[in-house]
Amino acid sequence: MSASERTLLDVRDLRVSYGGRRGARAAVDGVSLSVAPEETLGLVGESGSGKTTVARCVAGLLRPGAGTVTFEGRPLGRAGRRPPELQRAVQMVFQDPRSSLNPRMTVASIIAEVWRTHPVTAPEGDRTEALHRLLADMGLDPEVAARRAGDLSGGQCQRVSIARALAVRPRLLVCDEAVSALDVSVQAQILRLLVDLRGRHRLAMLFISHDLGVVHQIADRVAVMHRGLIVEEGRTGEVLTAPRHAYTRALLDAALDLDDPVPEDGTADGRAVV
Ligand SMILES: Nc1ncnc2c1ncn2[C@@H]1O[C@H](COP(=O)(O)OP(=O)(O)OP(=O)(O)O)[C@@H](O)[C@H]1O
Ligand SMILES: [Mg+2]
Repeated sequence: MSASERTLLDVRDLRVSYGGRRGARAAVDGVSLSVAPEETLGLVGESGSGKTTVARCVAGLLRPGAGTVTFEGRPLGRAGRRPPELQRAVQMVFQDPRSSLNPRMTVASIIAEVWRTHPVTAPEGDRTEALHRLLADMGLDPEVAARRAGDLSGGQCQRVSIARALAVRPRLLVCDEAVSALDVSVQAQILRLLVDLRGRHRLAMLFISHDLGVVHQIADRVAVMHRGLIVEEGRTGEVLTAPRHAYTRALLDAALDLDDPVPEDGTADGRAVV
C-alpha cells in the first residue's frame, strides 16, 4: 500500500491568521498532519496553541489562509460546499454538549433532522426502532428519544452529540475537547464509549485535548502543538514516555504522572490540564 492510500485525512502547510493584523502571529503557522483509516491521532498543546483552529479547518467551518485539507485525496473545502458524501464522512463532536445541541429540540427530532439532510443514511425500515438502536449503541435508554436536549445531563447530551455524528456513518470523527467539560467519572464513560464505537464503526479520529492522560488512553499517535506549530509527533507511548522536544517535556512535567489516579474532585490542581 502506498502512503497516499493509507491516508484518510491530510492537512498540508495550514496557515490561519485571525483578524489579519499585520505582523500578528498566525494562530496556525504551517501545520501538516495526516490520519490513516481507523487511526486515532491525538492533538495536544496548551490553550491557544491552535488546536481548535486546525479542527475548524478540517470540519470546513473556517477557511485557511493557506494550505490544503484533503480527504482520500479530495479537497475538503467549506462545510456547506462539500459534496454530501464528504460532508457525511467528516463529523465533529464539540466540547460543550449543551451548546452544540438545540435545547428545545427532542432527541428524536435532532436525529431525524440529520437523516433528512443525508437521506442515504436514513434507515429503510422502522425509524423509531432504528433510533432506539442508535441510542442503545450510545448507552442511552429509548425513553431519551422523547426528551428535549435541554433537559438532559451533560453526559447524556454528549452521547446524543455522538449519536448525531454517527447517524450519518462518518469515516472520521473530529473530537475537540469532547470530554473536557464533563465530570471525571462521566469523562471516563464517554472515553470508553468512543473507544468502543471507534472499533465497531471502524472510525478514524482526530482527538484534540489538552489532557495528556486522556490522549494517552485513546490515541495511536500524538502531535504536539505549540504556538501554531507542531513541534513533535510520534507513537503515543513514545512521545509521552520519551519526549524529544523541550516543550513536550514541559507539558508532561505540568501534567499528572500518567499512572497517578485522577484526583476525586477532578480539578486542574492534579494538572492533567496544561
Ligand atoms: N475567532 C477568533 N478571533 C481571533 N483570534 C482567535 C479566534 N479564535 C482563536 N483565536 C486565537 O488563535 C489562537 C489559537 O486559538 P485556538 O482556539 O485554535 O487554540 P486552542 O489550542 O484550541 O486553545 P484551547 O486549548 O484554549 O481550546 C489563540 O491565540 C486564540 O486567541
Ligand atoms: Mg480549543
